[in-house]
Amino acid sequence: MTSYFKMDINHIDNDIITKCSELLKRGKLVAFPTETVYGLGANGLDEKAIAGIFKAKGRPMDNPLILHVNSMDMVKKFTEEIPSVAYDLAKIFWPGPLTMIFRKNDLVPYAATANLDTVAIRIPSHKVALALITACGFPLAAPSANYSGKPSPTDSAHVYEDLNGKIDAIIDCGKSNIGIESTVLDITGDIPVVLRPGGVSIRQLELLIPNIISEKVTDSSAPKSPGMKYRHYSPEAPLYLVQGENEKVVSKISTLAGNNTGILCSLENMNRYHTGKRICLGSIANSEQLASNLFDSLRIFDKLQVDTIYSEYFEYGEYKEAIMNRLKKASSGTISVT
Ligand code: TXA
Ligand code: MG
Repeated sequence: MTSYFKMDINHIDNDIITKCSELLKRGKLVAFPTETVYGLGANGLDEKAIAGIFKAKGRPMDNPLILHVNSMDMVKKFTEEIPSVAYDLAKIFWPGPLTMIFRKNDLVPYAATANLDTVAIRIPSHKVALALITACGFPLAAPSANYSGKPSPTDSAHVYEDLNGKIDAIIDCGKSNIGIESTVLDITGDIPVVLRPGGVSIRQLELLIPNIISEKVTDSSAPKSPGMKYRHYSPEAPLYLVQGENEKVVSKISTLAGNNTGILCSLENMNRYHTGKRICLGSIANSEQLASNLFDSLRIFDKLQVDTIYSEYFEYGEYKEAIMNRLKKASSGTISVT
C-alpha cells in the first residue's frame, strides 16, 4: 500500500513531514517533491533501504544515487575533502539544481554509490524536501521517482503511474518547478567535468569555471556492454529526432506523419503540421519552458497511444544541452535532412 499525502509548498504540514520522516527512519521509501523532478527517497545510510530503491525502480545496480542534504555541514560529514571550487559553486548554486561529486568517507555505504569511492551530493531548494531532510537528520538517497527507463516524474501523478504499490508513500506538491534533473558535476579531478547537463546551465557554470569540461557520453547509467541498445526517458513508441534546417524539418515530419504519429514540436511550428498528434513543447524563445515541459510531453504520447514519434531538434537557449541530452537518450535514432 502506498500512502498519498497532499501538501501546499507554502504551508508545510508538519504532521505529514513527521509521518514521512518516521517511515524513512524505519527504512521505508517515500517519494517527495524537489524543484527539479520528484525523488524516490530512502535513508542514505541504510543499505537495506537503499536496496529497496533499486528494487522498486528496477534500477540497474551499477547506477549510483544522489544524497540529498540540507547544509554544507552535512556535506562535510560525509566527504573526505571538499575542494575549494565546491564552496564557490555552493555559494551561487546551492540550494538548487546542482549535484557535485565528492570523495566519500566511510559513513557513506557503498550501496548508495554503486561501489564507487565517490558520492553525489545535492542541497535541493524545495521547501518540502528540505523539511523532510531536516526531520530525518540523515541524507536522503533519492534517484528520480520514475520506473527505470521511463521519463523522470515532474508531477506526483507520474510517480503514481510508475510506483504505486511499490513504495510506501508519495508526497504530492504539484508540478516540479524546473522539470529537468540537476546538473551533475564531477569536482574530484583537476578540472570540473559535467557528467549530466541539467537545471544549472553550462553557460552559468562557465561563468565561474571557464575551462569546465562537458562530457559527451554523459550518463554513468549507460550500459558497459557494447551493442546493447540502451533507452532512457523513453515513451512507449519509438521516437526519432529530425535534424536540419527548420523548413526542411517541418516538411520531412509532415511527409512521415500519419494519423497515429506523435509530433513533438515548437509553438512556432505547431500549426504547420496537419496530420498526426502534436504536442507543443513550448516556444523556442523560452528554453526554460521547453525543458520543463519535456518529460510530461513524453508521457502524454503514451496516453495518446501513438505508434511512432517524430521530434524536432530543440537546440535553443540556456537549457539546450540538457534538453538535447534527454531527447537523444529517449530516441531510437536521428533523421538528418539536408
Ligand atoms: O534533480 C535530480 O538530480 C533528481 C532529484 C530527485 O534530485 N535526481 C536524479 O537522480 O535525477 P538520478 O538517480 O535519476 O540521477 C543521478 C545521476 C545518474 O546519472 C548517476 O549515474 C549520477 O547521477 N551519479 C550519482 N552518483 C555518481 C557518482 N558517484 N559518480 C558519477 N555519477 C554519479
Ligand atoms: Mg533518473
